[in-house]
Parts: sequence; structure tokens; C-alpha cells
Amino acid sequence: MGGLDGKKVFVTGGAGFVGSNLVELLVSRNAEVAVFDNLSSGRSEFMAPFKKYRDFSFIKGDLLDKEKVEDSMKGGYDAVIHLAANPDVALGTKQTDLDLKLGTIATYNILEGARKNDVKDIIFSSSSVVYGIADMKPTPENYGPLKPISLYGSAKLASEGLITAFSHLFGMNYYIYRFANVVGKNSTHGVVLDFVKRLRENSKELTVFGDGKQKKSYIDVVDCVNAMMLIYEKSRASENIYNLATKDQMQVSDIAQAVIDRFAKGAKIKYTGGKQGWPGDVPDAFLSSRKMDEIGVRLKHDTSRDAVLNLIDILSHN
Ligand SMILES: NC(=O)c1ccc[n+]([C@@H]2O[C@H](COP(=O)([O-])OP(=O)(O)OC[C@H]3O[C@@H](n4cnc5c(N)ncnc54)[C@H](O)[C@@H]3O)[C@@H](O)[C@H]2O)c1
Repeated sequence: MGGLDGKKVFVTGGAGFVGSNLVELLVSRNAEVAVFDNLSSGRSEFMAPFKKYRDFSFIKGDLLDKEKVEDSMKGGYDAVIHLAANPDVALGTKQTDLDLKLGTIATYNILEGARKNDVKDIIFSSSSVVYGIADMKPTPENYGPLKPISLYGSAKLASEGLITAFSHLFGMNYYIYRFANVVGKNSTHGVVLDFVKRLRENSKELTVFGDGKQKKSYIDVVDCVNAMMLIYEKSRASENIYNLATKDQMQVSDIAQAVIDRFAKGAKIKYTGGKQGWPGDVPDAFLSSRKMDEIGVRLKHDTSRDAVLNLIDILSHN
């Protein structure tokens, strides 16, 4: 399959956090890039630097508009990178059809667009949350049964199922990437930003959801998009599922302390209590990175702490 250098690529959610970093990489590789995004959580300023490139285009559209999706995917794309989704895992408890629409149905619309327009390669941003509360840690890609505990997670798993079935039925190649928590340049959401925002509102006390003992794997966004591309370039398989994560975890209380040390020295931490940060939160997520290592991915920020501290650094310069 080779790399995406010089190829024609359709990117959903390209105006978002991960998407903007990925588009930067694609543009640097002379790919022809079309971003399809409704700017619900994405930002037009993230797209501004790319507008000067002849081979970059931005389509403002909603993935639930199936006709527009199918129409926009005409023109001989080599690959679709499908990143658009609801970014807020907790929101599913308030709007129970949100992830069904923005996750599962949106993915179906993209796959139909790919099928009808003969796009052969599907690259998808899945998540560690598909594993639910796994009893094997670090959790490898072939762990099962997969039992997500959030509606966001169930939409990711449903999307993975649609992708594998479309691939089998219609001869597509797939690259499903199960991300750890992604942090870094252009972050617009997540635990670190949340803590910084709270401390800016009250520099004396930081409220932390749960007991602070939740621990997860983190990955820097530049490492994440580089890994996505490297695996796409190097894998000779047509069916690919890879975890993208550092080799360790970081505890929420340590993140809180690191943010306090940088932004509001001496602030006290108040825990709301309980094992989960919110209903549907996986309190102990630890992905195996063995498969990713074996294909040759090397991370610049190779521990979760390093990735998180890099984001804290970026934010302290803003
Ligand atoms: N950030 C993380 O920690 C993380 C972890 C695991 C998986 N992921 C997955 O990676 C992908 C990118 O996440 P992100 O953190 O960059 O989120 P993000 O919110 O920054 O990006 C999502 C983008 O999709 C767009 N979008 C949402 N709904 C849309 C719709 N109906 N039509 C068109 N565009 C739409 C948004 O405007 C935004 O630009 C998502 O699929 C997310 O589930 C992210």
C-alpha cells in the first residue's frame, strides 16, 4: 500500500485537535488533502496555515448529511482518514443518541461514500475505551470479548465492526487505531486543559473527579499522527488494528499535581471520591504497545508523564 506521500486523502474531523496535527503532516508529505468538518469542536484557525497550499481544500459539512458526504468524496481519493466524532465521552449519559449518530451513523455514511466512490483505504481513530474494564493489562489488540462501558465506546466498537464488514464485503483495506488519551499541540479538551481552566478560575483549590487514582496511558499527538502514518506505510496487511500508546500509565492525582506545580503552586486538591471520574469512565486503562513497537514505531515522548508534561509546557507558553 505504501505511504500517503503525494496521494489524495479525504480527512473527516481534520479541523480538530488530532486532525489539525495530521493535516500538517500530510501537507508536509505533499499529499492532496480535503478536510470535511462541521467545525462543531474543530477550529477554523487550525486550518488557516494550510489554506495557502494549492492541494489543500476545506469542505464545511456534516457527516450526517449522507448525500453531501458521498458527493464530496467523488474525485478519486486514495484513502479516507475518519477522525470526526463527538469528543466528550461523558456527554453520552445526557444525550443517549449522540454517539450513535456522530459515531456509528457518521462512520456508516463515510463507508458508503468510500464504497460508492471506490476509495480503497480506510483509516479510523478508535479508542482504548473499546476494551471497557479489561482484566488483562497491558491490553493487547486481540483481547476480548470487548465490552465498552460508555456509549462513546460502544459507538467506536460499532464503527470498527462496520469497517471490518465493509472491508470484507467490498474489498477495502483498513487501519483501525485505538488511541490512548492524546495530548499535545492544539489540544482543545481533556483532563489537563480542564485542570488548567479550573485553576485559572480558582487558584487556591482544584476539584478532581473521582479519587484521583484513575490511571491511563497518554500519547503525544505528534507521536500519534506519526505512528498512524508509519504503520500505514509499513504494514503489508489489508486488515490492521493497532493500539497507539506509551508503555506506561499516569495517575490523575499526578497530573493534577503537575498542573498545580506549573500554574498555581500550593493549590489544594479536592477529590469528589469514587473510582470513576464520571459514569462510563474506565478508571484503569493500559494499552499494550507491543504490536506498534514490532512494526517499528518509536515515540519521541516515550512515557505518559513526558507526553503530559509536554502539553503542560505548551499551555504555560500560551
Ligand atoms: N483526543 C483523544 O484523547 C482521543 C482518544 C481516543 C480517540 N480519539 C478519537 O480521535 C478522533 C479525533 O479526536 P480529537 O480529540 O481530535 O477531537 P476533536 O473534537 O478535536 O475533533 C473532532 C472533529 O470532528 C468534527 N466533527 C464532529 N462531528 C462532526 C460531524 N457530524 N460532521 C463533520 N465534522 C464533525 C469536529 O468539528 C472536530 O473538528 C475522534 O474520533 C476521537 O474519538 C481521541
